[in-house]
Amino acid sequence: MFFQIKSYLKFLWLSKNEHAVHSPFVFLLLTKCFYDKKPKPEYAVLKEYRNSLLQNKNTIEVTDFGAGSRVFKSNVRGIDKIAQNAGISPKRAELLFRITNYFQPDNILEIGTSLGLATSALSLGNSKASIVTLEGCSETAKQAQLQLQKFNCSNVELIVTEFSRYLKSHQPSTINYHLIYFDGNHSKKATLEYFELLLPTITNETVWIFDDIHWSQEMEEAWEIIQNHPKVTVSIDTFQWGLVFFRYEQPKQHFIIRS
Ligand SMILES: C[S@@+](CC[C@H](N)C(=O)[O-])C[C@H]1O[C@@H](n2cnc3c(N)ncnc32)[C@H](O)[C@@H]1O
Repeated sequence: MFFQIKSYLKFLWLSKNEHAVHSPFVFLLLTKCFYDKKPKPEYAVLKEYRNSLLQNKNTIEVTDFGAGSRVFKSNVRGIDKIAQNAGISPKRAELLFRITNYFQPDNILEIGTSLGLATSALSLGNSKASIVTLEGCSETAKQAQLQLQKFNCSNVELIVTEFSRYLKSHQPSTINYHLIYFDGNHSKKATLEYFELLLPTITNETVWIFDDIHWSQEMEEAWEIIQNHPKVTVSIDTFQWGLVFFRYEQPKQHFIIRS
């Protein structure tokens, strides 16, 4: 906790808004997408999706993967509590919707479905996209599948798998994911492994979003390695998320942005 407070204070000190950004690509992304305050009908669907989970008092037995939980002590967990603690926040879900809507990616990969709160934002953001979402816990995945069906997210394929097993066996080089949301197994080793395994899928239009880049010292180290990677040109730190782009024509530049 102390680590995150220290990190956040540093972020506040260094972060800027659109007025300090000279890259037209990033300026447009901020003004037309990040800071777009106009209401959208899809936000009501996101809210409904979340509320229906928050009202679900059933429990499931969760298989713990990844870096573990700082909130849950037991593996028998209420659906409402998982939705409250493990999923994307309402504001971030709206931002994820806007990012997806802005870039209109054809193929999307989400690493870490949980109950599909972020998946629904991706699905609504571009209903024509083909979305693959990965989840290791079969009980959680079962609930997510029901929920995604209930909300007609028909462009989503949910795959129950351990992440690196899937990424190693599915030859990512044959698919170009235009948007990848990394939201599971927040450890340095795993994050860098997924990063390397997915590099063959990049295009000039690709956007990757890493969740919780300041969650721990390890995640900050992973984020620094990612932003310094020679293939990464633009990187944006919004504190909660790190966004990276691989645009060939763009000079390498790092932005720390209040979102
Ligand atoms: C933070 S939650 C995802 C939240 C979701 N994106 C949302 O916003 O609602 C991370 C999920 O990844 C799964 N997970 C973590 N590590 C995994 C691994 N190595 N393989 C498969 N699933 C994993 C967990 O079971 C958990 O449901």
